Amino acid sequence: MKQPLAMTGVRPAALQERADRPARPDEGRSAVALAQAAVRIGPRTIWSDVSLSVDRGDFVALLGPNGAGKSTLLKVLLGALPLAAGSARVLGEAPGEANRAIGYLPQRRAFDAGTRLRALDIVRLGFDGDRWGLPLPVSLPRALGERWSRGREARDRVAEALELVGAAPYAQRPIGELSGGEQQRVLIAQALVRQPRLLLLDEPLDSLDLPNQAAVAGLVARICRDQGVAAVLVAHDVNPLLPYLDRVVYLAHGRAVEGPVREVMTSATLSDLYEVPVEVLHASDGRLVVVGQPEAPAHHHDRHVMGPGEHGHAG
Ligand SMILES: Nc1ncnc2c1ncn2[C@@H]1O[C@H](COP(=O)(O)OP(=O)(O)OP(=O)(O)O)[C@@H](O)[C@H]1O
Ligand SMILES: [Mg+2]
Repeated sequence: MKQPLAMTGVRPAALQERADRPARPDEGRSAVALAQAAVRIGPRTIWSDVSLSVDRGDFVALLGPNGAGKSTLLKVLLGALPLAAGSARVLGEAPGEANRAIGYLPQRRAFDAGTRLRALDIVRLGFDGDRWGLPLPVSLPRALGERWSRGREARDRVAEALELVGAAPYAQRPIGELSGGEQQRVLIAQALVRQPRLLLLDEPLDSLDLPNQAAVAGLVARICRDQGVAAVLVAHDVNPLLPYLDRVVYLAHGRAVEGPVREVMTSATLSDLYEVPVEVLHASDGRLVVVGQPEAPAHHHDRHVMGPGEHGHAG
């Protein structure tokens, strides 16, 4: 049962149109609109009756236990997975149609220590590439060589994106030599380099220490506010995001609740979603601690798994 949760209102300051990318007349303010959406993979319904509305300038966190279908939701918005029911619009179009205006950061990225591509090459690939994901070294030198001639605009954009995420000091260093947090910033720059109108970030705080989690969360919030970009950010811990979020979407048990943090992250709402008693405690420093949510399914062995209210940071 979806809770009738209120949406947040208007943020006019965030809505200045970008000079170089006028909005299509039919686009309006909506970045993401899902209505009674359901996804099936094989015989399994991953989630159903999910309604979600993200406007330009909104910063929304997508929370929930492992396997709840968070990454699946981003894939739906990219048009990579069809809906089994309901409807989806992304930047005013069918999913997949507006992908060039989306900055996507996939989950679980890692560069081998031997990767010689420089940080700025990685960002540059985001500018040139027609697809996302890790830039695999398929005839990369040639591809880069051809593309490098595309000139000044690309170089300026790459520099701007690196500057924006604070990665300029290590722009010339091989990505494989950078720390996890530094790599993460470079990849966020890659997602930003085309000046997207929608950011879909799958666990961008993964592998960051607490100060860097806060820095990246603040960075995304600033981009949303200053540039009218909408962001959907998948996270396991809501706490680093608390100062910045407009709303959260909490996926669990094949269902979702959406609304302001203070309405979703409550004992009543989460107990209802999980169908078992769950308690949301408020620590004296403002953090939220979720107690008693069911164990995450043990199908991921490769990474530290935290519930949305836990604070055992790996960083
Ligand atoms: N290609 C696939 N084939 C079969 N099942 C899949 C496929 N992709 C995802 N699933 C299943 O769909 C469910 C949701 O997966 P998804 O990756 O969206 O979860 P998630 O919420 O992102 O989890 P995590 O926090 O671990 O990243 C999982 O049970 C997963 O096993
Ligand atoms: Mg995922």
